Amino acid sequence: MNFEFILVENQYAPQIALVRLNRPKELNALNLQLMLELKKALQDLDEDEEVRCIIITGNQQAFAAGADIKQMENKTAIDLLKIDQFETWDQIRKTKKPIIAAVSGFALGGGCELAMTCDMIVASETAKFGQPEIKIGIMPGAGGTQRLTRAVGKALAMEMVLTGKFISAEEALKAGLINKVVPEELYLNEAVKLATEVCAMSPIATRLAKESVNKAFETGLQEGLFFERKNFYMSFTSEDQKEGMSAFVEKRKPDFKGK
Ligand code: CAA
Repeated sequence: MNFEFILVENQYAPQIALVRLNRPKELNALNLQLMLELKKALQDLDEDEEVRCIIITGNQQAFAAGADIKQMENKTAIDLLKIDQFETWDQIRKTKKPIIAAVSGFALGGGCELAMTCDMIVASETAKFGQPEIKIGIMPGAGGTQRLTRAVGKALAMEMVLTGKFISAEEALKAGLINKVVPEELYLNEAVKLATEVCAMSPIATRLAKESVNKAFETGLQEGLFFERKNFYMSFTSEDQKEGMSAFVEKRKPDFKGK
């Protein structure tokens, strides 16, 4: 399959696959096609016997600035329900091989959620993590309220989700959201170093261990995600969603009416 919005590379080692999100002009905003391509690439890499660890990255400016607001702007809750984009996210979560997110720049909304769906996160000093959906009149829909809260605890998660504020890589490290912070020029190398350590272990044990850690992390998560999804769709019934997204696209301040 030829991909338009991602690149799959293996320049570091045959056992390490690098998947690069590649919509630089849009700060790697995650449109539906990009997510389908990512799902397909991860399925292929999961089946490739040579590959033992996968790195997902963006570029220095952005890991991903969230789901594509322009694509969502005029959607209704029913449109979203029918598109069922979260089935793609569920498949990504089911990848059996370990995935490291190598994050530089913005990891916002769906971008932060994608990084959190990975197994470990290595960040550049310039990385910024956030769930700013509230600023466009909606709420996180791809695990943000559940995974962020489990990772950093209620206080910080609530603050980030309710105010949309970004946190720095250092803050994310302190809060337990990520594994490492390194200077910008080293973040990809650091991810490769971590991947190399992982690749040295038994692939079977690695698969079983990943599954088990996720089990501990995810007990009760399904229920939470189901709940979150309903509320995410519900947010698209509001005028505030239309206002928030139009304001973003028109580059003006939103005027939320609470309707
Ligand atoms: N969707 C669509 N386009 C986006 C985008 C997004 N999430 N984020 C950035 N872009 C586009 C901008 O529209 C802009 O395009 P144009 O040049 O055509 O105008 C281009 O990328 C560059 O962005 P900015 O000019 O805004 O760059 P900046 O440096 O001034 O600001 C930013 C960077 C703070 C990340 C800002 O772009 C921003 O706030 N982006 C939106 C972040 C956001 O709200 N993410 C959540 C999306 S909803 C979601 O993810 C739902 C979910 O849970 C599944």
